[in-house]
Amino acid sequence: MDGNTPELTQDTIGQPPGPCAMVIFGAGGDLTKRKLIPALYNLAKGKLLPEQFAIIGVSIEPYSTEDFRKRTTEDIKQFATGMVDMNSWDWFNQRLYYLSGDFGDAELYKKIEDMLGKVDVDQSTGGNCLFYLATSPTFFPVVVEQLGKAGLTKQDDGKWRRVVIEKPFGHDLPSAISLNKCVAKFLDETQVYRIDHYLGKETVQNILAFRFANGIFEPVWNRRYVDHVQVTVAEELGVELRGGYYEGAGALRDMVPNHILQLITLTAMEPPISFDAHAVHDEQTKVLRAIQPIAPEKVLERAVRGQYGEGTINGKHVPAYRAEPQVAPNSVTPTFVALCLHIDNWRWADVPFYLRTGKRLPSRATKIVIRFRRPPFVPFRNTSVDKIAPNELVISIQPDEGISLSFEAKIPGPVVRLGAVNMDFQYSDYFGSVPSTGYETLLYDCMMGDPTLFQRADMVEASWTAVQPILDVWKALPPRDFPNYPAGSWGPEAANELLRRDGREWRDSKAGHPPRPDGHSESPDPGAKTPPTTQPGKP
Ligand SMILES: NC(=O)c1ccc[n+]([C@@H]2O[C@H](COP(=O)([O-])OP(=O)(O)OC[C@H]3O[C@@H](n4cnc5c(N)ncnc54)[C@H](OP(=O)(O)O)[C@@H]3O)[C@@H](O)[C@H]2O)c1
Repeated sequence: MDGNTPELTQDTIGQPPGPCAMVIFGAGGDLTKRKLIPALYNLAKGKLLPEQFAIIGVSIEPYSTEDFRKRTTEDIKQFATGMVDMNSWDWFNQRLYYLSGDFGDAELYKKIEDMLGKVDVDQSTGGNCLFYLATSPTFFPVVVEQLGKAGLTKQDDGKWRRVVIEKPFGHDLPSAISLNKCVAKFLDETQVYRIDHYLGKETVQNILAFRFANGIFEPVWNRRYVDHVQVTVAEELGVELRGGYYEGAGALRDMVPNHILQLITLTAMEPPISFDAHAVHDEQTKVLRAIQPIAPEKVLERAVRGQYGEGTINGKHVPAYRAEPQVAPNSVTPTFVALCLHIDNWRWADVPFYLRTGKRLPSRATKIVIRFRRPPFVPFRNTSVDKIAPNELVISIQPDEGISLSFEAKIPGPVVRLGAVNMDFQYSDYFGSVPSTGYETLLYDCMMGDPTLFQRADMVEASWTAVQPILDVWKALPPRDFPNYPAGSWGPEAANELLRRDGREWRDSKAGHPPRPDGHSESPDPGAKTPPTTQPGKP
């Protein structure tokens, strides 16, 4: 937390933040209308914005404030996550302002300074300001430098100034270091909020509560009991209209150094000494630094890349990646990646972390699977049981948020047979489901000055350090087999081989239950008749 924010206490958390303005660079863009405005409006409806508040949209489009208010009123009807209540919308809409200009033009920043003065008079925003960079990443250094040079990042007289940077934070290690250097030239690290909207999801935050607010899981959360960990971030969608951006990014850059490594840090980190941002970030950084970079000669074995060809999803034929708009017909951009990583520390030595992410997979699902070691088989030697399925803990992040633990149970009947059953917790069953964009908590935290859910500069560099050897080898050795998986499948065969080599297999993200030792995928039907006894015995 910076020195200009009152300390967060039980009395301030859950209350609206103090007076402030928010300047959104890229206000004419997609992120603003789809996510930021709906999220800010949800905060307004929940009385979690200060009464003294204003939003200044900044973008190239030549709108007036009046045009911006009208457009935003139209957009919210389409992108709100719930009913739009006209009273609260009027309150919100009257706090919208707009400035047209080019991000590279110093004159624009003089206009922003004047506008901040005006909204301070109109709305008593108190000189505090959150600058949100909802722009293409090429503008991150441009805007930060212009803000710095215009003196807009100075925190005089107790007022605070913060800058939110959207991902991607660089496109490789050198560019991430260079962006961090530029940011550090004009801002103190406490003023920088690197946002990854995945961390706004309740289930992601719940990983820490689950691990550290329960006594029964942490003792088995280590190499002694865990066989391996799987992280799957599967998308059904293709690249839609983002082909131009995606061609330069690909699945590895787009998902791994940010979303997936963040999930891995929360899963693998040591207990922090408190939930203070520094304490949490320190532990996350230790995990990232402990990831063994894959040796160049091992990259093709431990990092699988794929690109979808045409195929069928939910009965609908979809085109190949190379046939998508703004994609080169001979593109070698990966739309799928699977990796085997090792975290070289005392807790996780020799426990593989397998991760996979891809587009045009059979279903949309983000899951972390903790697969435990099998128990000794000895007691079952003289029964009809031929093997015991390992226990699995599955943390589902989307679309259904919840946690499920699988364990073996005896199928009723005289014969000793085992069936895998689940203990399920669904967030919505206990706490209801409040539709949200995923940005609400994060925006609120920025205004409150709580950086816990944001990435620190050293975390970003440690993430890219883990990924860089793969980028280097893939660049030097372009793929020759693309496209190598049909849309609607779980990726290329090499992704299955990655686990098969180690005697393991991916948990199909769609199946509700772990695979049964007898080959059936569903839980046993309690009413089903058991086959005649062949080898009676007691478990
Ligand atoms: N869209 C999403 O849902 C989403 C989700 C997660 C993260 N992000 C990240 O959020 C950022 C913004 O994404 P986006 O999809 O909103 O981008 P976008 O649609 O390209 O929006 C950027 C806005 O800035 C304007 N602009 C471009 N050049 C400008 C200049 N020189 N001066 C002033 N304005 C200029 C654009 O106008 P023109 O349209 O005329 O160029 C556009 O209105 C990106 O970093 C992206 O990776 C987006």
